[in-house]
Amino acid sequence: MKILVTGRDGQVAQSLAERAKGHELVFAARPGFDLLDPASIERTIAEVRPELIISAAAYTAVDQAEDEPDRAMAANGEAPGVIGRAAAKIDAPVLHLSTDYVFDGSGERAWTEDDATGPIGTYGKTKLAGEKALASSGARFAILRTAWVYSPFGNNFVKTMLRLAETRDALNVVADQYGNPTSALDIADALMAVVNRWQGDPLHGADAVYHFAGTGTTNWADFARAIFAESARHGGPACAITGIPAADYPTKAVRPANSRLDCMRFAKTFGHEAPDWESSLAGTIERLLA
Ligand SMILES: NC(=O)c1ccc[n+]([C@@H]2O[C@H](COP(=O)([O-])OP(=O)(O)OC[C@H]3O[C@@H](n4cnc5c(N)ncnc54)[C@H](OP(=O)(O)O)[C@@H]3O)[C@@H](O)[C@H]2O)c1
Repeated sequence: MKILVTGRDGQVAQSLAERAKGHELVFAARPGFDLLDPASIERTIAEVRPELIISAAAYTAVDQAEDEPDRAMAANGEAPGVIGRAAAKIDAPVLHLSTDYVFDGSGERAWTEDDATGPIGTYGKTKLAGEKALASSGARFAILRTAWVYSPFGNNFVKTMLRLAETRDALNVVADQYGNPTSALDIADALMAVVNRWQGDPLHGADAVYHFAGTGTTNWADFARAIFAESARHGGPACAITGIPAADYPTKAVRPANSRLDCMRFAKTFGHEAPDWESSLAGTIERLLA
């Protein structure tokens, strides 16, 4: 299948480059493809004429979004609608990525797709607007909300922790925000599970929202401890972690305290689940330290 992937250098895009076997991938990136320039989106899709689009590019700077709400809304809230309308013209379905930040973070239960959204920050508001823009664009689609993404590529929590441990003996890390660490390589595998299913069974489960994240829950402090335990096992850097409340680590954007995602709908529809978060983490740490 000819697949257009937005966001060539992002974590998910680079993971797809590794994991999308047997398909022709065309990557779209700035300057030729800019989420802030609708004409560049329409031109790219009309020129490439993909059979399917994976929409992985986004404005992902969560704190910066508080200072640039218009740019964040144009990229995350409006561009998915532009992508959808252009995709509908060539009958290409769109697999789009969204986020746990569409929820307000209340409670302790894992969020299902039927739960009410209620984003508490600009990034989450713009991503929710993007889900709605795509859903009403006329394109066939599936939206995958994921969370706490890390990989051997780009910027992420795992790489930040390993870098900090090169120069620090101890770190304070937030211990009262819970979620599912998710390997971008596992997201790529999940996207390919949908693509491969749709090849034999076109649009099975389409026009719906799904949750897909690493199996199992943790908090940022325990995530950091797991990173350093695995790193130490391979002779890599490690440091001591003190868990602190989020209130003691103020950031521009408020993060949801409960980001747990229930991924049963995806598992039932596509017969595919993410590995335990610890086992995926081990694979990434091994690669990063190799
Ligand atoms: N990272 C997470 O923890 C997380 C959590 C939940 C959901 N998600 C969602 O998952 C998806 C993939 O995330 P990721 O971690 O792979 O993101 P990422 O590594 O931050 O990559 C984002 C990509 O988007 C591109 N991009 C940003 N602004 C653009 C613009 N105006 N025009 C064209 N491209 C632009 C970036 O290009 P440059 O390289 O040129 O900057 C980059 O390649 C996103 O939809 C994100 O919202 C991520």
